Amino acid sequence: MRAILVAGGAGYIGSQTCKALSQAGYLPVTLDNLSTGYAEAVKWGPLIEGDLRDVDLVGRIVREHEVVAAMHFAACSLVGESVANPAKYYDNNVGAAVLFAKALVDSGVKALIFSSTAAVYGNPETELIAEDHPTRPINPYGASKLAFEQALYWMAQAHGLVYTVLRYFNAAGADLDGEVGESHEPETHLIPNLCKAVLGTGKPLTVFGDDYPTADGTAMRDYIHVVDLAAAHVVALGRMLAGGGCETLNVGTGQGVTVAGVIRAAEAALGKTVPHSIGPRRAGDPPVLVADAARIRRILDWEPRYSDMETIVRTAAAWQRDRFY
Ligand SMILES: NC(=O)c1ccc[n+]([C@@H]2O[C@H](COP(=O)([O-])OP(=O)(O)OC[C@H]3O[C@@H](n4cnc5c(N)ncnc54)[C@H](O)[C@@H]3O)[C@@H](O)[C@H]2O)c1
Repeated sequence: MRAILVAGGAGYIGSQTCKALSQAGYLPVTLDNLSTGYAEAVKWGPLIEGDLRDVDLVGRIVREHEVVAAMHFAACSLVGESVANPAKYYDNNVGAAVLFAKALVDSGVKALIFSSTAAVYGNPETELIAEDHPTRPINPYGASKLAFEQALYWMAQAHGLVYTVLRYFNAAGADLDGEVGESHEPETHLIPNLCKAVLGTGKPLTVFGDDYPTADGTAMRDYIHVVDLAAAHVVALGRMLAGGGCETLNVGTGQGVTVAGVIRAAEAALGKTVPHSIGPRRAGDPPVLVADAARIRRILDWEPRYSDMETIVRTAAAWQRDRFY
């Protein structure tokens, strides 16, 4: 079984991707320092508790498991925290990530998939955001992700590293079988907070702004089900292992849903009212962030299957009800 080193495999998206890798016949080997992840989420291969910065450990894992490729999910990803503490974001998302990538190259692993973000684009200048849209991040989180994308570009030139950068839009939903899901502390994402509000395990939802230039005044995002996101990683991996070159791809559906639209869909899917109130806009939130998803469809021949809002909300609510970590 070919081993894939998954840095951050104990987190929300990493653990779901480990499941998809295992289903596709790979052995996911997780390296995670458990700073925001959970040992209980690592179910489809070994967990090595350690840090990205530990280059000797990375070399040892590669040798022991005969790792053929790696995925890098391990990052800090709270926008507000990045504004308050940019050094933490540059340290982990750039410094530690560069050490990890160099350790991979030095131990002979030349294929890497990196979790980037729509935050690299900053304020959109077009309705749909394509990969060649200008990258002008408006917070240190997005800037740190862009800096590592650039490091990968130069490491590819210098060392023959082959990378796939996946720029996720809003990851949402939970495993279809309820085996893993989203458990961030603090939780800043709309859908888990909405589910907690409905279940009575969290506060009533605050909608940040209802005066945006959208049809109902609330901000619009492109939500991608985490199972679809995980599947995109497996297809991207297969393409690289078959000799495909470096790529940068948006991962989204190409369809926007407003916050009010998410609330309506959740009320219909769950048969319950979502307790909520309207608050002020959150600093740094663009009104609309929707992917032009044509390139990933073409290059990976990948289509989202579970990213309709009903499936997203249903799986997320089931996880929030039954979650075991
Ligand atoms: N969740 C989203 O909507 C979203 C959107 C765009 C991009 N992303 C990116 O996707 C990736 C995964 O996001 P997530 O929501 O699953 O986050 P998460 O916090 O659930 O997972 C990150 C994992 O990485 C680990 N980690 C962090 N720093 C580490 C280090 N130095 N060494 C070892 N392990 C470390 C954490 O313990 C955690 O298990 C992140 O890079 C994030 O920036 C997420």
